[in-house]
Amino acid sequence: MKTSRVCIQQETSLPLHAGPAAAEAEDLVLQLAAEEHLPPDAVKPRIGEIRAELDATGTYWQNSDELRLGARIAWRNNPQCIGKFYWKGLETRDCRDVGASPGDEGVVFEALVDHLRSAWNGGKVRLLLSVFTPSRPDRPGPRVWNGQLIRYAGYRQHDGTVLGDPETVDLTEAVVRLGWRGQGTEYDVLPLVIQWPGREPRLFDLPQDAVPEVRISHPDYAWFEQLGLRWHAFPTISNQVLELGGLRYPLAPFSAWYTCTEIGARNLSDTNRYDKLPQVAQRMGLDTTRDRTLWRDRALLELTSAVLHSYDQAGVTIIDHHFATKQFVRHEEREHKSGRGCPADWSAIVPATSGSTTPVWQRRYEPTRTLPNFTPHPVPWPSGGGEG
Ligand code: ARG
Repeated sequence: MKTSRVCIQQETSLPLHAGPAAAEAEDLVLQLAAEEHLPPDAVKPRIGEIRAELDATGTYWQNSDELRLGARIAWRNNPQCIGKFYWKGLETRDCRDVGASPGDEGVVFEALVDHLRSAWNGGKVRLLLSVFTPSRPDRPGPRVWNGQLIRYAGYRQHDGTVLGDPETVDLTEAVVRLGWRGQGTEYDVLPLVIQWPGREPRLFDLPQDAVPEVRISHPDYAWFEQLGLRWHAFPTISNQVLELGGLRYPLAPFSAWYTCTEIGARNLSDTNRYDKLPQVAQRMGLDTTRDRTLWRDRALLELTSAVLHSYDQAGVTIIDHHFATKQFVRHEEREHKSGRGCPADWSAIVPATSGSTTPVWQRRYEPTRTLPNFTPHPVPWPSGGGEG
């Protein structure tokens, strides 16, 4: 595929001098021991081993427990996620050897497709993380440009409006500059952009069977289907670095199931996303001329209930925000019993509708940042303006 000029952003922050990396590695080993995943007498030898490897090579290879259990702790530490009740259920695919060299983009792509198929699991969505090659001092690891492995394109139109998802306008423009052409529908699945720092990015179209979607219908309103709304079956966050034990894994896509409000009360309804409430309200026959009729609120509720209904009908795992928040509070209590805090960002935990009807509303949270964790990457594509 023809690629146009791109400015390639290097992953510069590679804190892999033995010092800080050794301290973080040590913390991870101690934490695993404190949580009884490692016998106390194994701690010192393992730390010694890691130190020696760091001194000799500037990096080290984590064993499968460090990777698997450490990733669960990273999730548990993440303040943005309401689903942490299930942190012990996170499965990790070890892809550290897959396409470990620059130039293996095709192999990485195949592994990402396998990830999606495996997370989909016929509709019984899995909590699944795939961990690819870590960055090394001499060689940063690969990453993808996509915020999620499955996302819809957003095409900016001449009149300033957007066809598709406004969230991805910049990424869409970047892939178009790289030679990609979409169909021009509201729900064109974006290609994956895989890149090793210092190399040209490569584009890959996802095969259809790796992109399960759900068409949105309503339990009571037969007309709802005619709105043509749909969404992908589950999210797979792909723009976060897994920071674990002093190592950085720049490609670590994480799949989970949706909470219905993420789709109904955000993706399809935010005015800076698909902005579908006016259409829903109009078909419901609501008076949209004044805010005071609460047409937005009514439409929002029906759209969210349509999402829940449609995923249920399609046999795709999804949870509602009441259940999700109850589980979160149970998680919080469990964490406190284990002598730990529960880092959380209130605005990310309180659902987008009916916040005050859920148990998290009255609670206060501290979004404390601890390691290990998942940290968003900086945006990798060049800003549109200067590009010719
Ligand atoms: N809110 C994002 C989206 O709508 C997904 C974030 C992660 N959500 C999750 N249920 N794991 O696509």
